[in-house]
Amino acid sequence: MLFRWSLFALFAARVLAGMNKTGTLCIVTPSGSKDDSVSIMDAFKQCGQDGQIEITEGDYTIAKVMDVLNLKNCDISIKGKLTWNDDINYWTRNSIGVTYAQRSTAFRLGGDTFSIRGHKKGLFFGNGQRWYDANKNGSNMAGRPISLTLWKAKNVFIDGITWRQSQFWHTFVAYSENVTMTNLDMNATSTSQWNTVNTDGFDSWNSKDIVIKNWVVKCGDDCISIKGNSSNVYVKNVTCYESGAACIGSLGNNAIDYVDNVLFEDFTAIHSSNAAWIKTYPGQGHVRNVTFRNFYFQDWWKVDTDDD
Ligand SMILES: *[C@@H]1O[C@H](CO)[C@@H](O)[C@H](O)[C@H]1NC(C)=O
Ligand SMILES: *[C@@H]1O[C@H](CO)[C@@H](O)[C@H](O)[C@H]1NC(C)=O
Ligand SMILES: *[C@@H]1O[C@H](CO)[C@@H](O)[C@H](O)[C@H]1NC(C)=O
Ligand SMILES: *[C@@H]1O[C@H](CO)[C@@H](O)[C@H](O)[C@H]1NC(C)=O
Ligand SMILES: *[C@@H]1O[C@H](CO)[C@@H](O)[C@H](O)[C@H]1NC(C)=O
Ligand SMILES: *[C@@H]1O[C@H](CO)[C@@H](O)[C@H](O)[C@H]1NC(C)=O
Ligand SMILES: *[C@@H]1O[C@H](CO)[C@@H](O)[C@H](O)[C@H]1NC(C)=O
Repeated sequence: MLFRWSLFALFAARVLAGMNKTGTLCIVTPSGSKDDSVSIMDAFKQCGQDGQIEITEGDYTIAKVMDVLNLKNCDISIKGKLTWNDDINYWTRNSIGVTYAQRSTAFRLGGDTFSIRGHKKGLFFGNGQRWYDANKNGSNMAGRPISLTLWKAKNVFIDGITWRQSQFWHTFVAYSENVTMTNLDMNATSTSQWNTVNTDGFDSWNSKDIVIKNWVVKCGDDCISIKGNSSNVYVKNVTCYESGAACIGSLGNNAIDYVDNVLFEDFTAIHSSNAAWIKTYPGQGHVRNVTFRNFYFQDWWKVDTDDD
């Protein structure tokens, strides 16, 4: 009897968790419960090393931070829509610190050799409107989380993911190398009197060997921003709407910052405050060998720009 009950409990737990492991493959299905981050974290734990993870089609709710720094030889496929809930109280207290300017993140991935493929179906929905309204045009609301951070990540490929209404910056790459991010589609648009503010498409910091290709971004702040100690960055075929477009910096704000070997090409800036620019504080560091090539811009206008 005891045996039968524990078996039943185990089976029930598995079904509820929405995660099913077969060999090295972990399949996640939407649980219908309040928080699917539990089953996604379970998949990272059980298949994050020498495995594959499939987040199947359907609607997932993410109510907790997800922090996974030990991925190794893992291919992740996301076909579902992941919605980060709008519990501002929770996120401002629990977002994971990322050192840079006291920023923090809701989702942090690190490790060696992994991929995330969205197949143009995977969608990250950040419930950003709640954040834009709470932020009230401010500069940097404490604890407002970056959607996806790559942290100490090496040999990474990310492709085909769509973002809508990101909470804060869409992507941040720090202490990482050999990162390729292609075919990403981002759009943060406020419907209220408050601007999105600080919904940058991409920021890099202390990282090298980065490729960004075929992105479309509408964000209302810097689109692609190369921050301190970034080198060998190649950005090609990116279209940015309502943004600060292609940017180096800000640099030298109480830090020694180096930026080397950056090439932006085939870049389209639509209704932007700037097309290509380098922002520095009167600090220390250098910017060397930066090329902006083949830039197109339409309908220039002045949008609000902040200090970072
Ligand atoms: C788990 O996956 C296997 C293989 O795809 C399938 O046969 C099995 O029915 C699944 N179990 C559950 C509980 O979803
Ligand atoms: C860079 O990362 C990609 C994706 O993981 C991998 O295929 C490639 O071999 C890596 N390149 C180097 C030089 O390690
Ligand atoms: C972004 O989303 C807004 C609101 O849904 C829409 O009006 C706009 O056309 C979209 N922009 C792009 C470039 O997709
Ligand atoms: C927020 O900032 C934008 C851009 O500067 C401005 O158009 C808008 O009026 C501001 N909102 C309020 C309520 O002040
Ligand atoms: C440029 O990127 C866009 C958006 O991802 C894509 O539709 C287009 O095919 C790309 N162009 C080239 C020449 O690769
Ligand atoms: C950038 O790199 C230099 C030299 O390695 C280091 O001294 C400095 O602290 C780094 N800056 C930041 C902001 O990490
Ligand atoms: C300058 O940057 C380009 C493109 O990023 C790179 O191919 C080239 O080797 C760099 N030149 C030097 C002298 O480092």
